Amino acid sequence: MTMIKIVKNKNRGEAVDTSAYSFDATENVRNLHKSLKVYNETPLIELKNFKGVRPIFIKDESQRFGLKAFKALGGVWAIYKVISRELGLNNPTLEEIFTRRDELSRMTFITTTDGNHGKGVSWAAGLFGCKSYVFMPKGTVEVRAQAIRDAGSATVKITDLSYDDCVKYTAELAAKNHWHLIQDTSWAGYEEIPAQIMLGYSTLAYEALRQMNYQRPTHIFLQAGVGAMAGAIAAVFAENFKDNPPRITIVEPVEVACFYETMRIGDGLIHSATGNCQTMMAGLNCATPCELAWKILRRYAADSAIISDDVAADAMRELAKHKIISGESGCAGFALINAALASSELRRALELDEDSIIFVINTEGDTDPDNYKKILSTKKREDIR
Ligand SMILES: Cc1ncc(COP(=O)(O)O)c(C=O)c1O
Repeated sequence: MTMIKIVKNKNRGEAVDTSAYSFDATENVRNLHKSLKVYNETPLIELKNFKGVRPIFIKDESQRFGLKAFKALGGVWAIYKVISRELGLNNPTLEEIFTRRDELSRMTFITTTDGNHGKGVSWAAGLFGCKSYVFMPKGTVEVRAQAIRDAGSATVKITDLSYDDCVKYTAELAAKNHWHLIQDTSWAGYEEIPAQIMLGYSTLAYEALRQMNYQRPTHIFLQAGVGAMAGAIAAVFAENFKDNPPRITIVEPVEVACFYETMRIGDGLIHSATGNCQTMMAGLNCATPCELAWKILRRYAADSAIISDDVAADAMRELAKHKIISGESGCAGFALINAALASSELRRALELDEDSIIFVINTEGDTDPDNYKKILSTKKREDIR
């Protein structure tokens, strides 16, 4: 059944310091990314006059580093930071790091993923000549596991654990074996790495800002799993438009909506999703918010929306018409817009009008190619798995 619901963030909390995301503070992150052979700025696509609003800017991450998703921006920066620390180097170049091959080959990284983050970790660990282990929650399709093996150095296992339990399991394995846990979510006592991963995502926001000539979007729609990406992007825009930050909406799948639940309860604390965790939006299938992200989103997100899988499928087909390959999670921010612009009630709820300037991110391409083909060849909403 088609479903879209929105809940307001009524508990905005106290001001947060976003200075770590300023242009100057994130320069080293961009420099590292730019020094990678596979680096290219990803495109910013402008849909003019889409369903009666001013431009919709879509930052298209479907080709980032040849890995089909934005995620490796965070993984490679966090791994670079760990390696620099372990080798006792301050802001080393890649060439300086590569002279220490023996030490690199003795380092091991580990993570849990529902796909794209693990691919980034496998790729980055492989790039530096380090070992890596990637664990995946139950229900993961094999094609995603194989893509992680193919991307880099990882040994990959699909477990019978939920995402949250899998994260706990890999954290225990890391501690037992003295491996480096590169997890893209934070909890009390585990903040340094996820903070670096979030900083890694700032590169895409600064590319987009430059591509938009530093024009201020009025609205930003950000899909969330644990919310680390949304938190980082919100922080960059808050930092760059201090007096009037854009209006931000978080978008999640109906059955795994931890920010929706957190805002619905509205006591300022994080809350886990209560649904059955069934969604084709695999990258968003995370039931507990990242604490660090919530600190930022609590302040800067105006509201949170949930969408059913068929709403995402419609968006994948719509984006394909504009020559944008967008996967199930990749399209979610746009999916809300695509549906909301056709409904006066949703337009009102999201405070959209003909002067709105919208920014969304296509966070992935066809990371599950079979399902992508199936959805593109399907017309009727009920036919979608
Ligand atoms: C394609 C895609 N989009 C969005 C997200 C959400 O990122 P986060 O978990 O930081 O909210 C993910 C997470 O894996 C993803 O793979």
